[in-house]
Amino acid sequence: MKRLLLILSAMLLAVPYTAAQSIDMVIPVPQEVLPGEGTYRYEDSPEITYRVSKKLAPEAYRLEVRKNGIRITSSDDAGAFYAKQTLLQMIAEKDGTKEVQCCVVNDCPRFGYRGLHFDVSRHFRSLDFLKKQVDAMALYKMNRMHIHLTDAAGWRMEIEAYPKLTSFAAWRPQEKWKDWWYGDRLYAEEGSEDAYGGYYTKVQLRELVEYARQRHIEVIPEIEMPGHSEEVLAAYPELSCKGRPYSQGEFCVGNEETFRFLETVLEEVMEVFPSEMIHIGGDEANKTHWKECPKCQQRMEEEGLADVDELQSYLIKRISGFVESRGRRIVGWDEILDGGLAQGATVMSWRGEEGGLQAMSMGHDVIMTPGRYCYLDHTQDAPFKEPESIGGYLPLDSVYVYDPASRTMDLPGRLLGIQGNLWSEYVVTDSHAEYMYWPRALAIAETGWTQPHQKDLEDFRRRATGAVRRLKSMGYEPFDLADEYGERKLAQTGLDHKAKGCKVLYDKPIQKWYPAAGETTFTDGVIGGWTYSDQRWQGFLSDIDVTIDLGSVQTVSYVGGTFMQLKEPGVFMPQKVDIYVSADGESFELVAEVWNDVSVNIPDLLFRSFDAICDVRARYVRYHAKRSTMRGFLFLDEIVVN
Ligand code: ACM
Repeated sequence: MKRLLLILSAMLLAVPYTAAQSIDMVIPVPQEVLPGEGTYRYEDSPEITYRVSKKLAPEAYRLEVRKNGIRITSSDDAGAFYAKQTLLQMIAEKDGTKEVQCCVVNDCPRFGYRGLHFDVSRHFRSLDFLKKQVDAMALYKMNRMHIHLTDAAGWRMEIEAYPKLTSFAAWRPQEKWKDWWYGDRLYAEEGSEDAYGGYYTKVQLRELVEYARQRHIEVIPEIEMPGHSEEVLAAYPELSCKGRPYSQGEFCVGNEETFRFLETVLEEVMEVFPSEMIHIGGDEANKTHWKECPKCQQRMEEEGLADVDELQSYLIKRISGFVESRGRRIVGWDEILDGGLAQGATVMSWRGEEGGLQAMSMGHDVIMTPGRYCYLDHTQDAPFKEPESIGGYLPLDSVYVYDPASRTMDLPGRLLGIQGNLWSEYVVTDSHAEYMYWPRALAIAETGWTQPHQKDLEDFRRRATGAVRRLKSMGYEPFDLADEYGERKLAQTGLDHKAKGCKVLYDKPIQKWYPAAGETTFTDGVIGGWTYSDQRWQGFLSDIDVTIDLGSVQTVSYVGGTFMQLKEPGVFMPQKVDIYVSADGESFELVAEVWNDVSVNIPDLLFRSFDAICDVRARYVRYHAKRSTMRGFLFLDEIVVN
């Protein structure tokens, strides 16, 4: 038996719950908590004994709190560490004395991979910020920090063999990604007057790796390839197909220099990061340049590659082989499936779960991080009250309800776990990033740790509200759940009206991208929420021309539909809406022509009803929305008739 001294941060004790309440506040909720009688009290540090039991699974622990002391049992250091994190969350303070409710906790994680992703390319983050997030991740038993070190917006790791990556490709003239991206997308020399950006030295990254390791968090570096690499090709244009800077974002796969570069970089990366997995990106490559590049074409011919997907796969497989030769393995975004998945590769499924399911059906390891549940760059509350974001709407509840294993049963591959991602195009400051992570990362943490039958949204919200107080008292700046406005009110309640349940006739088939509920969408009483991707809004890249059959001739006094506008992704109000009625379905009378008066230049999310008050008798209502001259999408959720 070993004696263990637990150093407790005073800041962790500032949450005003009693000892009895505190054992019900733990995140992630433990597998079993058996409350006992009385409390264990102490003044400076608690007395803890530690016992190793090889019977317990990796990371599992038993925590026994008795009136006369505390005992921790685990099979490994991680388990002991997690027992302490549970204990930290259970400590209450009464009359200057600390106390913990007597109890026994038996606990074990559901998944071995419980990750959080940091995009330090779009906006560079300080080392202190990363360490601070490591601290919070550790408290909630997360164990992987995925750090997106390279992308068009800036290269962030010192590489000795290629100094221009950090003397040039790590800097840009504009601070805000948005100004840079919609401007000239140029880079800048380090130290020049307007250079914004930064990079980590190897010494700093080793410090981060060690800091995280002490908290049982592994840092997984990501080096993007073959796409998202504009910054590399600006510094080393010879690695692009045309040999010119600012000409493309993809490495030339026909050029052996590309492999020399990538392998040299990865060699240096693996010296700094001891993680078993090395993330090689693989997402969103624009492969069109390869079709016109003589070197890429020659490579395809020599290697017998049928298309550019196979050319990408050639690069990934070759890099995977290199990484494996160093005793590591690759993980990549789900596009690495295109053209054939490299043996031994782990897939990070982000475009929904399909890529992950496909990889698992082929026996591969998978980490689920589907955008709809795990992309923390979406707005976490009503967009009108939140900072500018990339769009979308992902409140805490929507993150929490996700179960990564709901469709993976019986597949031969392993589901390693879950990860929350924060892409940072619109997240300029460290404090804004922190606000985007917390408390939603708590939902990721609990899904990663707790068995699904023990998850309970209402109870989680209660505990997360407590965790927000705790995080604030520790100097974090989380989103405050007490201020949550929530989903659009009508989207929560639905809407009853005369046309509800009535048949809708379309002048042409529904387009495939945003079908919502198909032909029942406009009359199902379901109102769209803050985002067009919530499967309540039907999307069109054309006019909308539909006719509702009310079933019988009746009085119609109101017809209206609400459209959404969001300039950046190209969602606009219609130019105008014409509303017609008919008693027989043959001869239609125009009752209103409603013109748009919303400027296309407003950047904010807007909703506007195109409606008419009338006094007619009709069985059929035709609603014709003319697409904006801006083209782009029209989104409509319901056509209300009264
Ligand atoms: C990604 O979001 N492009 C992986």
